[in-house]
Amino acid sequence: MINQRRADGSLRHLTTLDGLRRAEIEQLLERASAYVCAPGQMPPRNQNLAGVTIGNLFTEPSTRTRVSFELAGRRLGADVVNLEVQLSSRAKGETMLDTVHTLESLHFDVFIIRDSQSGVVAHVAANVMPHVSVLSAGEAHVSHPTQGLLDALTVRQCKGDRFDQLTIAIVGDIRHSRVARSAYEAFTGLGVGELRLIAPPALMPAAEEFPQGQRFTSPETGLPGADVVMMLRIQKERMEAAAIPDGEEYFQRFGLTPQRLALAKPDAIVMHPQPMNRGIEIESSVADGPQSVIRSQVSNGVAVRMAVLETVVRPGGSRT
Ligand code: CP
Repeated sequence: MINQRRADGSLRHLTTLDGLRRAEIEQLLERASAYVCAPGQMPPRNQNLAGVTIGNLFTEPSTRTRVSFELAGRRLGADVVNLEVQLSSRAKGETMLDTVHTLESLHFDVFIIRDSQSGVVAHVAANVMPHVSVLSAGEAHVSHPTQGLLDALTVRQCKGDRFDQLTIAIVGDIRHSRVARSAYEAFTGLGVGELRLIAPPALMPAAEEFPQGQRFTSPETGLPGADVVMMLRIQKERMEAAAIPDGEEYFQRFGLTPQRLALAKPDAIVMHPQPMNRGIEIESSVADGPQSVIRSQVSNGVAVRMAVLETVVRPGGSRT
């Protein structure tokens, strides 16, 4: 793990939530809350990052993370460039670091990187100029820190800030999920009361990776009394073909149906990072139902990414 901080202790990079203090997570959520706006309202914007140039470098597909980082940068007044990796010299074999050094020469200040290989984001962060920040937009199965923060913000909006009074269940392909790892770091960092991991044995992570999680091999045993039910996508792109569960059988055993959701508390919220496999990990009537906060998670993504960008680029607040 690289050092994410400057010499004065302020956050310079965000490649993982591991090592963030509770107060830092709470400050990021507080700052993000100021940028949350309801659908149909004019989104907050300012010029706090005017003159800053941000590069989105995504080598894996993305809808939510890429668009919301772009909107976050633009709403803070920054210049934002989305590098089309397939049309860039990466396609000719140029390394990510050589691409980044080229863009540094063009006065880029922040790189937002999604990559399927673990270690790439940290390698870039360790080798950029001192004024440059690097943010992970999703690294292999390892981490997705801004997703962890937006998930925590969504829980806090719905359930308040007493995480110690909450039971949160994470259900599905936890083993291959960067979302689960960052959610675990965010929820445990905020002092969650009880964290449950519900998965078939083949999709359960190693015990040392989630030491605080109680393990369940069925929703029927793991969901009763839960305040939050976080469903995960089966990460087919990170599995051997032989290990991919049959969709129909998986839905029968682990899919979130209204009947299974009824095992959780009556006011439990349903989360999913998306993209969703409807009819495999979640039934549409639940995904689109009254307990679903899946769309709020997406909206909160912009607010969280505005807060993160401001924090790493301008420690201590805006320059206006
Ligand atoms: N949740 C998430 O990371 O979605 P995207 O892959 O669309 O960015």
